[in-house]
Amino acid sequence: MSAKNTAVIGLQFGDEGKGKLIDILAESHDVSVRYQGGNNAGHTVCVNNEKHVFHLLPSGVLYQDKQCVLGNGMVVNPVAFLEEIANLPKNHAKIFLSDRANVLLPKHIDADKKKEQTKKIGTTQKGIGPCYTDKISRDGVRFCDYWSEDFEWDVFEKIKPYVCDTRALLQDALDKNKKILFEGAQATLLDVDHGTYPFVTSSSTSIGGLYTGTGVRPKDLKVIGVAKAYTTRVGEGPFPTELNDAIGKSMREIGQEFGATTGRPRRCGWFDAVVVKYACEVNGADEIALTKLDVLTELKEIAICTKYYRPNPFIADSEIINHIPSSAAALEECVPQYIYLQGWNTDISKIKKFSDLPRTAKEYVSVVESLIGVPITYVGVGTGREQMVRKANNHKIKK
Ligand code: IMP
Repeated sequence: MSAKNTAVIGLQFGDEGKGKLIDILAESHDVSVRYQGGNNAGHTVCVNNEKHVFHLLPSGVLYQDKQCVLGNGMVVNPVAFLEEIANLPKNHAKIFLSDRANVLLPKHIDADKKKEQTKKIGTTQKGIGPCYTDKISRDGVRFCDYWSEDFEWDVFEKIKPYVCDTRALLQDALDKNKKILFEGAQATLLDVDHGTYPFVTSSSTSIGGLYTGTGVRPKDLKVIGVAKAYTTRVGEGPFPTELNDAIGKSMREIGQEFGATTGRPRRCGWFDAVVVKYACEVNGADEIALTKLDVLTELKEIAICTKYYRPNPFIADSEIINHIPSSAAALEECVPQYIYLQGWNTDISKIKKFSDLPRTAKEYVSVVESLIGVPITYVGVGTGREQMVRKANNHKIKK
């Protein structure tokens, strides 16, 4: 029997295509929830050739008979929130904003921009870090106290109808056996604890953030990790499999790898099984959705990183490791060790059944699955809602 509730979490450095999977899954859930981050996220959903990008709202918002929740773990810019609602198609889900979420104010954006001039993280400059800093140091303003802040009353008046105790709402939904979809933003390697600190975002992007960011504990929960068939990263920080060559450039162009929030070109590179295995462990992922396989079409040979060669200053020899070192500086020094697989040169974007993929594409998916040890149940072959091939979960994983 399939689980009642689902969490979708990024397994790399963000932009894995979570929005599309969430949009697909939202149809079979009653409530969609964001639980961390703010409008630094950019989740893209393509329906009937129309592109929608959501920064704050859960990607399930396009279903009119559903509920959408922005949980207490989020930092919410009220002006951006209202703007996003104003741009929605007429029929959309009912939206609820947690009264315990922190209000992201103009001073946070100013502080973010100022700090970027000296400590370069490559943030989205949306004020996320400074707003979380105020939250943790107990200087923040929450929506339940928003009226006490010295600011524009018209914004407050417009926000008021959306604000409620979303923890109680979610608990009630669980008690009534409704199905909840939890939508992670950013990704595990950008987690403030488990990511490549300090080149991370300021929230808990992995599974722990779901609990603190909603105040409920869904007992029957399936965790689907999302990974791209290659890797991208935007902003600064270590990226062992980065390609600064023609292949990286073609991945960027074919995969349209430009930030949905900032428009910045994303850094591109080969699939890193060390990163994805680590992220699956951190989140206890039950399944993987492997997205954007079509972007690799026409590459003669495709590399997968399976371990790192790590220079070790304390021993004469260097070592081979298959885990993520805690220090970003140490990860920066790691040299990826690759295996090489044969590519395919037929268009896979219209394929509906996994068995119809070219032999070498199936082989690629199966090798990734074996390296990670978690079943791949979705394979993305294009940007559209319908371009997500289901793959049976009964695959015997080779260890
Ligand atoms: P911040 O979240 O704006 O503070 O940025 C911190 C780091 O996280 C930067 O490297 C950003 O590029 C990255 N980041 C934040 N949000 C996203 C996202 O939604 N996708 C990918 N990277 C992100």
